[in-house]
Amino acid sequence: MSEIKIVRNTAPKQKPDENNLVFGKYFTDHMFEMDWNQQQGWHDARIVPYGPLELSPACTCLHYGQETFEGMKAYRNPHGEIYLFRPMENFKRLNRSNERLCIPQIDEEFALKALLELIKMDKDWVPHTEGTSLYIRPFVIGTEPSLGAHSSSEYKFLIIMCPVGAYYATGLNPVSIFVENEYVRAVRGGMGFAKTGGNYAASLKAQDVAAEEGFSQVLWLDGVERKYIEEVGAMNVFFVLGDEVVTPALQGSILPGITRKSVIELLSSWGYKVSERRLSVDELLEAYKKGNFTEMFGSGTAAVISPVGLLRYKDIDMKLSDGKIGELSQRLYDELTGIQWGKCPDPFGWTMKVE
Ligand code: PLP
Ligand code: COI
Repeated sequence: MSEIKIVRNTAPKQKPDENNLVFGKYFTDHMFEMDWNQQQGWHDARIVPYGPLELSPACTCLHYGQETFEGMKAYRNPHGEIYLFRPMENFKRLNRSNERLCIPQIDEEFALKALLELIKMDKDWVPHTEGTSLYIRPFVIGTEPSLGAHSSSEYKFLIIMCPVGAYYATGLNPVSIFVENEYVRAVRGGMGFAKTGGNYAASLKAQDVAAEEGFSQVLWLDGVERKYIEEVGAMNVFFVLGDEVVTPALQGSILPGITRKSVIELLSSWGYKVSERRLSVDELLEAYKKGNFTEMFGSGTAAVISPVGLLRYKDIDMKLSDGKIGELSQRLYDELTGIQWGKCPDPFGWTMKVE
């Protein structure tokens, strides 16, 4: 399959104010769509006006959550050119999620080609204002109209896009996070490593409770011993413990973040000792008491580098970096966004030009 049919939107929308972009609310004029069935495989690739889908109310994604998705961004550099950040990592991860959810593999090269076409069509939607970007959401849904609880015999792959500013309303100001003690998000052998709606549905309750108490997100503990740190709702986490930077190892229950991978590569290139290992909440408390736990931040496409100013475990408040942006968080934010927005050299070859 190589052809992408194009149906232009004859009624383009007015673009939102770039200085007041709420995350994930305004969508561009076009979207990419293709279908899968057993006879034809993936077929009928097309870019069409952004709009509602026609689905049977019985389709599998609506009842049994057979769905996978990705989150990536396109950035405009100071010369007005548009770049993607490590896009193939996202399509590879989408296929790993697809494998877990019994969804047919997509052709990663073709998905990238379709994305480049789509961005070129909606290039005026890539915002120019400092700190903004175009958020890209590829996703796959099971569409077979059947209430039998089995994998679907029909799918749709779509890509939608929206101009965004900061994910957290606080911007780069530190967020407050609550260590979740009651609910769990995922267990090893489950689907925590996959980017699929069910993981997010599982996390809503705890997030609501945390929000009522004034916290932005929850920090998940492992689902078996409720002892080891996992990740936050929409980001991976890093802790500065003395001269070691620690992030939980990938053992199947957390998302292998592309920002996480990039942070590890950056820190290693700067000579930091980075450990991907098990980290218990008790170890964290001990280190805090000794003054050895000094900084914490989250990493993610939407969240970028997000400093944490307060971490609460039961009734213990760990206040970090004087409630300000930690030194390492700031350096990582500057370097990573410098590469993404094309303001710094890209020694790792992470960016890809769209046009
Ligand atoms: N963990 C979860 C649960 C996420 O939703 C995300 C966001 O995609 C991340 C981590 C960070 O992953 P990435 O850096 O690839 O965006
Ligand atoms: C992303 O960072 O791309 C994500 O998918 C997080 C999402 C929950 C907004």
